[in-house]
Amino acid sequence: MKSSVCNIPNIETKESNIHPHQGFITRDKRNQELGHQSGVVWLTGLSGSGKSTIANQVERMLFQQGYTVSILDGDTLRSGLNQDLDFTKEARAENLRRTGEVASLFSKTGHIVLASFISPHHKGREIVRDIIGDNFHLVHIDANLDDCITRDPKGLYKKAMFGGIENFTGVGQDYEKPDSVDLIVNTSDNSIAECTMQLVTFVKSQFAL
Ligand SMILES: Nc1ncnc2c1ncn2[C@@H]1O[C@H](COP(=O)(O)OP(=O)(O)OP(=O)(O)O)[C@@H](O)[C@H]1O
Ligand SMILES: [Mg+2]
Repeated sequence: MKSSVCNIPNIETKESNIHPHQGFITRDKRNQELGHQSGVVWLTGLSGSGKSTIANQVERMLFQQGYTVSILDGDTLRSGLNQDLDFTKEARAENLRRTGEVASLFSKTGHIVLASFISPHHKGREIVRDIIGDNFHLVHIDANLDDCITRDPKGLYKKAMFGGIENFTGVGQDYEKPDSVDLIVNTSDNSIAECTMQLVTFVKSQFAL
């Protein structure tokens, strides 16, 4: 990790001095009011596999149908909260730990969170699963590496192949395929509309009251 932010001494924040305040509005009350359960749908997959594309389609469709749904996207988090982190294994884990905490807060306030993060390592995905606990669903947005390289929507594979990006998943660093997932959406074999419907159907079934 580049930042000194992660190395700030823990003097003022000793666990024993921290007493989180419990509010009156419970998660259950919020869920009853909003008409569905809340939680996190974690989309993992290669860059260019379609995580952001599918998440945005799903968010729009669910929102139009009255769901309280939000997106957390890797590039957005890395533009702000996590801008001090690079792409080493350790920094990726910290990126996901912080994001997991944010996703957890959203889900406690009633949101269905669609989180789009390459999250290439088992360890990072386990960190977020542990933070979020109940109602965490791991979805693999699966596409062949060759398809992702051909799509290359941000030109990043090209850049990585010419040595312009260190630790780029699929080029300089491995993507560890998840062993156990709740859903696989294959974007190499299915259209954007089909993939969207697969995920919408999944979310509706998992988050029904
Ligand atoms: N079935 C499909 N599902 C999703 N995207 C598809 C599909 N077929 C083609 N595409 C195209 O693939 C690209 C996926 O790009 P997208 O930015 O969504 O990937 P990503 O997984 O979010 O990547 P990154 O991790 O770099 O943010 C888009 O250009 C999209 O139009
Ligand atoms: Mg994306």
